[in-house]
Amino acid sequence: MKSSEIRQQFLDFFESKQHKIVPSAPIVNKDDPTLMFINAGMNQFKDYFLGNKTPDNPRISDTQKCLRVSGKQNDLEEVGIDSYHHTMFEMLGNWSFGDYFKKEAIAWAWELLIDVFKIDKANVYVTVFEGDKSDGLEADMEAVEFWKEWIEEDKILYFDRKDNFWEMGETGPCGPCTEIHVDIRSEAEKAKVPGKDLVNMDHPQVIEIWNLVFIEFNRKADGSLENLPKKNIDTGMGFERLCMVLQGKTSNYDTDVFIPFIKFLEKESGKKYTFDYAHTAKSDIAMRVVADHLRAVAFAITDGQLPSNNGAGYVIRRILRRAVRYYYSFLEVRNPLLHKMLPLLASEFELVFPELKNQLEMVTKVIHGEEQAFLNTLEKGINRFNAIDTSSGAISGKDAFELFDTFGFPIDLTRLMASENGVKVDDKGFDTALAEQQNRGRADAQKSVGDWTELTADPSVEFVGFDHLSVDDAAVVKYRTVKIKKKDQFQIVLNKTPFYAESGGQHGDTGLMFFGEEKVPVLDTQKENDL
Ligand code: SER
Repeated sequence: MKSSEIRQQFLDFFESKQHKIVPSAPIVNKDDPTLMFINAGMNQFKDYFLGNKTPDNPRISDTQKCLRVSGKQNDLEEVGIDSYHHTMFEMLGNWSFGDYFKKEAIAWAWELLIDVFKIDKANVYVTVFEGDKSDGLEADMEAVEFWKEWIEEDKILYFDRKDNFWEMGETGPCGPCTEIHVDIRSEAEKAKVPGKDLVNMDHPQVIEIWNLVFIEFNRKADGSLENLPKKNIDTGMGFERLCMVLQGKTSNYDTDVFIPFIKFLEKESGKKYTFDYAHTAKSDIAMRVVADHLRAVAFAITDGQLPSNNGAGYVIRRILRRAVRYYYSFLEVRNPLLHKMLPLLASEFELVFPELKNQLEMVTKVIHGEEQAFLNTLEKGINRFNAIDTSSGAISGKDAFELFDTFGFPIDLTRLMASENGVKVDDKGFDTALAEQQNRGRADAQKSVGDWTELTADPSVEFVGFDHLSVDDAAVVKYRTVKIKKKDQFQIVLNKTPFYAESGGQHGDTGLMFFGEEKVPVLDTQKENDL
């Protein structure tokens, strides 16, 4: 069955159970300060659970774009290394707002998986909440009783709050949950170790596919639980994992959700995807990372989150730079690549998330620009990284900060590259260097400095100020925006210049630059801004 059919069958099934099918909410979360990005299907329904709003229909179902790259739900480090975590993924869900509860949620999940999708029930295990003393909660025996109608008792496993009490963040709607796990190992493997011993053990082929949450509580800021006005159902099934199970694959990346992108990357890089899950083929990891990160970055930008230097924008920039470094280093692709994959992504998702196709031009421009800007400094950054003395077994905070500040390496990228070389990063030292820079920034009346945009491949600069007070023709090598006292200024490097730059305590030269008809003053920033 094709992935598009799987998605449709899920929605059709819940429509037949009187659910209203709604579109995915944007992946970017502008309304809820407790959350940067949508990390679960239930986020858009938070107010329905809390009783602040009432839905038109008490039963809803959809597929939701989710991003788990920050906060309580963060899978970024796993992505590409393993075969079943993603930054952006689709969560298939069904909800009841004060309508049906545990009995129906369990019965319908079973009916869909076993009767409709024909998963062999011999391979299925379920988990339930064992209770928690600190929250004063008993084990969920009610869920156990409902499960016993469908599955042998020894396949119902008990887990603690870490696995079986779901919370969207530090505060908000929450409750005990029951999860459905599927064992897709070979018969020989199953004979060696029983599947139930591998549930919740991070085994790539004994995996959770569906989480049914019984949302009964609201976690308050003081950590206590209060009962919600009504009992609700919130379920979430990993679409890509379901496709893996139903298509008989052992990796999400081997399904038709990802294969078109892997093929594209094979063509662009001239490298072969080797289906190596022993984690040795770096080019395989790179293709998985790129195929995954492309989706996260493209849909976040489509939904309104541009890459930037702080907050949610920086999360997107970090993911994008991680992808660029993977294709640069391990696929040996030296030119912007992600933006070329966007038409394929847009057409693959045209029927379910048409918003990307509708904004293809804007998204392409943004991603291309970001890729080019990072590629301009990446090689120099890698050379600098390779020259760092790591005889102590660690990269100093100062060096990590230089990579960040001069070459645009997010700290997690430096950490990743360090771990590839078997060394650590002095995170504390980096934080100190960053805090020092921020303090200087505050003292500089909120000066914020953007990234350099490099316009030429040749970075050489000729200073002619000893012999000339002007030059007739010069080209901009690179520039960046500096916001000082809420005003935008530019720092510009020319390939040929008569201006002596501020250095060694000496003030910089002032004067004029002409861009065609436009006359632009060159300022002495020390004097102008009392720096
Ligand atoms: N909110 C639950 C989860 O994200 C079920 O949808 O797993």
